[in-house]
Amino acid sequence: DWTMSNFIDEQVEVIREQVGDRNVLCALSGGVDSSVVAALIHKAIGDQLTCMFIDHGLLRKNEGETVMQTFGEDFNMNIIKIDAQDRFLRKLDGISDPEEKRKIIGNEFIYLFEEEAGKLTNMDFLAQGTLYTDIIESGTDTAQTIKSHHNVGGLPEDMQFDLIEPLNTLFKDEVRKLGTELGVPDEIVWRQPFPGPGLGIRVLGEITDEKLEIVRESDAILREEIKNAGLETEIWQYFTALPDMRSVGVMGDARTYDYTVGIRAVTSVDGMTSDWARIPYDVLEKISTRIVNEVQHVNRVVYDITSKPPATIEWE
Ligand code: XMP
Repeated sequence: DWTMSNFIDEQVEVIREQVGDRNVLCALSGGVDSSVVAALIHKAIGDQLTCMFIDHGLLRKNEGETVMQTFGEDFNMNIIKIDAQDRFLRKLDGISDPEEKRKIIGNEFIYLFEEEAGKLTNMDFLAQGTLYTDIIESGTDTAQTIKSHHNVGGLPEDMQFDLIEPLNTLFKDEVRKLGTELGVPDEIVWRQPFPGPGLGIRVLGEITDEKLEIVRESDAILREEIKNAGLETEIWQYFTALPDMRSVGVMGDARTYDYTVGIRAVTSVDGMTSDWARIPYDVLEKISTRIVNEVQHVNRVVYDITSKPPATIEWE
């Protein structure tokens, strides 16, 4: 009968058979699906797998370091890290419309991936973390896979790879079990959904370095305090957003005119509908105090108490 370790043994055989002595490329985002697919394929073929990790500059605090440490160091995989922060920021310069931002980020990701993949002349297969649910209904996938960007942008049709999609019979909970069995750390296996466009849609309106820094730092504080309060598993998704507004405050004797940080934390089953999480007041207080004290240019923190619908989970 079906167990996770049977599944692993079986897939390892299938992958070895399919790949032979050829090579596989995997776009690693640090999300659950791409991480588990990389771990599984690595178990099967080791150094015949190369992962590509694109840092578009819209990742959360320490996310890039975690990916490189986990897969580069701990798993000892071949990983090529592409530092593309400047390229993405340049493309996004002056753009404030949310859908336009999504499109630019999605397209740029594909172009860059193609460009970099094209430099690797010996790759035969492309591994993707496509799940069973992605096949039956595409739409709410939150991992940064080629596929979700494909949905957003539009993949040029000239990729020369055969696809390997070993997770395409699995549901999300099975992928998590598989990840744990393969030694992928909890931090990644239980990672909350994170949108492909990343912090790019959490800085509302035009994106600047300063605003990205505010949303990244405030988000890190929120995550830390949610973890300290033991609320990680109760809240489906939690993050900060930076509205394109400033307001008056007071610091010591001086008037300030600075940014407002919005906290979004929701309970949900699948992201289609959600309710705002009833975070205890003392936890909210701690988060608020830390954000205004520790993040430069923030003098106000608000908590989003709308459900979806009528609001959405993200603010853009
Ligand atoms: P909304 O804001 O539509 O979000 O209520 C529902 C879920 O989808 C995620 N989301 C995205 N994921 N690319 C993604 O990969 C996107 O452009 C995108 N927009 C929203 C959101 O984080 C939530 O989990």
